[in-house]
Amino acid sequence: MLDDLEKVLIDASRIRDRVRELARQITHDYADIDSGITIVPIMTGAMIFTSDLIREMPIKMKINLMTVSSYPGKSVRTQGASLLSQQLGDVHGRHVLLVDDILDSGGTLQLVAPLLKQLGAESVRICVLLRKDRPTARAVQADYVGFDIPDEFVIGYGLDYDNIYRNLPDICTLKPSVYS
Ligand code: IMP
Ligand code: MG
Repeated sequence: MLDDLEKVLIDASRIRDRVRELARQITHDYADIDSGITIVPIMTGAMIFTSDLIREMPIKMKINLMTVSSYPGKSVRTQGASLLSQQLGDVHGRHVLLVDDILDSGGTLQLVAPLLKQLGAESVRICVLLRKDRPTARAVQADYVGFDIPDEFVIGYGLDYDNIYRNLPDICTLKPSVYS
């Protein structure tokens, strides 16, 4: 697996430091909400980011999963976001924090954020670890952004290519030969 990597873009220690900062800021922003918040990680990419983030957030929270697919199989460009499953429970009146690994075309969050509003969420905020340098990504109002990165396909720390490489601790690019 390591032979497939081209370069490390963001190493694990930088990720750890930034995740702590984000957690501190989010905890501060939601400090006055006694009923707690609802975290909605977008599976599967947000799995690792969310698990690190929430363990640095000492506030009351529920966790409800949604699975969205936009890069099925060996795609490196979005094929359009589609909702595969959701276990949202009752989000009516809840303050929801959507967590995703990366903001790219924006299709995923533009699908999911309005849906949560329709279901009666009191507020919906967005937290992404990465945001690509693309106009479509910047068009989505993200409240918390870990890192702005160049418009390259990245893997690791939850992000995949063909469902592989999610377990890498760093965020990396792949050798072009892997795609062909
Ligand atoms: P969007 O809907 O195009 O904004 O993309 C969001 C989703 O696409 C993310 O949750 C990822 O699962 C996937 N994605 C986008 N860019 C990448 C990438 O560079 N590597 C791996 N997955 C990506
Ligand atoms: Mg995803």
